[in-house]
Amino acid sequence: MSVVALVPAAGRGERLGYGMPKALVPVNGVPLLTRAVQGLFESGQVQHVVIAAPPSDVDQVHTATASLAPAGGAVHVLPGGSERTDSVRLALEHALRVIPDTSIVLVHDAARAFTPPEVIAGVVAAVRGGYDAVIPVLPVADTIKQVDEAGVVVSTPDRAALRIVQTPQGFRAETLRAAYCSGIAATDDAALVEQTGVAVHTVPGHPHAMKITTPFDLAVAEALFSGGQE
Ligand code: C5P
Repeated sequence: MSVVALVPAAGRGERLGYGMPKALVPVNGVPLLTRAVQGLFESGQVQHVVIAAPPSDVDQVHTATASLAPAGGAVHVLPGGSERTDSVRLALEHALRVIPDTSIVLVHDAARAFTPPEVIAGVVAAVRGGYDAVIPVLPVADTIKQVDEAGVVVSTPDRAALRIVQTPQGFRAETLRAAYCSGIAATDDAALVEQTGVAVHTVPGHPHAMKITTPFDLAVAEALFSGGQE
């Protein structure tokens, strides 16, 4: 039974202002995508990684990641779709076609390149333990307001009941397949599964699983992961 991680990495990542797809942006010399794939395999739980790459960069991504797979596993690279959800769908279809014993599927953003392997292992363990869908989360430190279109506060949700969601999000393969076949639209895989009526469970995330989106995030990552802390 294989655990397969899907990595949608086909976005242009323009907010980083690097002039290249975000997944290929280096942090201290190593591309985000390479680091993300390394972390998945370092968890010791993932046998296959399926990357949805920018269509023009499939060969480059393959060259950068192919050697990271452990014995018996592999990195698969295919061109992504026009939206993130299309990229995940294509990667999922590929996984179910070429890795027939896929039992658990993770969906992991390349932008969360520094997710500790322990978080990844925790998600897999929770799915193995019987949950259909599992997401890593952090408590919310800031007060969150709901506002209307004019920016006027409508309500203040109880912070104690809110969580910040990270990746990898883990699913029983059949649960994710059924959700993608349902025709429901959602920007987040757990939200999609949630809308099919499946309970989504949470496990502890980690601050290092932050999403690298802006030049500020990149600067934080460069500072945090320079030298021996990795
Ligand atoms: O743009 P955003 O940061 O929300 O993208 C989230 C993730 O989805 C990124 O890792 C990005 O590369 C990926 N993506 C994709 N295919 C697209 C658009 C985004 O795989 N067409």
